[in-house]
Amino acid sequence: MTAASLLERLNDLSPVGSLPRALEELYDGGLAIPSPCLYVNFVTSVDGVVAVEERRNSGSVISGHNRADRFLMGLLRAFADAVLVGAGTVRAEGRGARWTPDFVYPDAAAGFMELRARLNLPAQPRLAILTAGGELDATQPALQEGPIVLAPSGTAATLRRELPSGCEVVAPGGEERVDLRLALDALRQRGYRRILCEGGPNTFGELLRQRLVDELFLTVSPVLAGRDQGGDRLGLVQGAHFPAGRFPSMELRGVRRSGSHLFLRYRLDHASAR
Ligand SMILES: NC(=O)c1ccc[n+]([C@@H]2O[C@H](COP(=O)([O-])OP(=O)(O)OC[C@H]3O[C@@H](n4cnc5c(N)ncnc54)[C@H](OP(=O)(O)O)[C@@H]3O)[C@@H](O)[C@H]2O)c1
Repeated sequence: MTAASLLERLNDLSPVGSLPRALEELYDGGLAIPSPCLYVNFVTSVDGVVAVEERRNSGSVISGHNRADRFLMGLLRAFADAVLVGAGTVRAEGRGARWTPDFVYPDAAAGFMELRARLNLPAQPRLAILTAGGELDATQPALQEGPIVLAPSGTAATLRRELPSGCEVVAPGGEERVDLRLALDALRQRGYRRILCEGGPNTFGELLRQRLVDELFLTVSPVLAGRDQGGDRLGLVQGAHFPAGRFPSMELRGVRRSGSHLFLRYRLDHASAR
């Protein structure tokens, strides 16, 4: 760790790749993401809350706008061929949101660009949005940048008429919902092998149910958010309920800290068995 480091490495069992110097200093060490890989990134309160209000940028609220968390988001995006998000998150993040490394941590933009060049990646990852109902704001800047939109066939037909022509609307199976396994196949067929999923919790739950997740990067913010009886706040995993004794289990591969924020890297056991 140097004076410039944002994170302090406590333990790292994953294969470590070298990063551009400025990034390696900020991250306190190297990082590698395997290919292919579906890796997920979330920030949670200590009591497991990831969304405090519908349609609000919950991640920043929960992390307390933590710089190290924003840097890590940027770094993980910088490795990605594609960033996959559910439409609930797109709506919550608001009109101006972009899913690029420099948008979330502009101070390291040069390092992110250098990393992508080393990995032979284009300047920015491709955004991929999952939707069943198709409620997307066609005028939103991120929609002008040619994302892939994954939707069931009926919704896809409507979206092809309504969204900007640069959007690629794909219907990977399913009448009501997208078949997530086919959706990932569709992304991989387009050459997107390192796929970063930034949630939200319903999308994560569905990916977990289908055992499609390889790794989880989890920032634990030192706050306790609490929940009402009605459960208006969302937990890390929504829409999936695993029987006792058959919980998806994980191996802890890395631990970093920044003050009282913890940065954990897990590998899903079912991924290691694949
Ligand atoms: N703390 C964090 O790190 C973090 C990260 C991400 C999000 N969040 C927060 O989480 C909240 C949103 O939660 P959420 O669970 O509603 O978000 P979400 O998972 O992003 O969105 C759920 C929506 O994604 C679409 N979707 C997911 N799976 C699909 C499938 N198989 N087929 C078709 N469409 C599918 C559907 O969109 P349609 O509704 O359009 O049909 C579904 O309603 C926001 O407050 C956001 O800020 C927090």
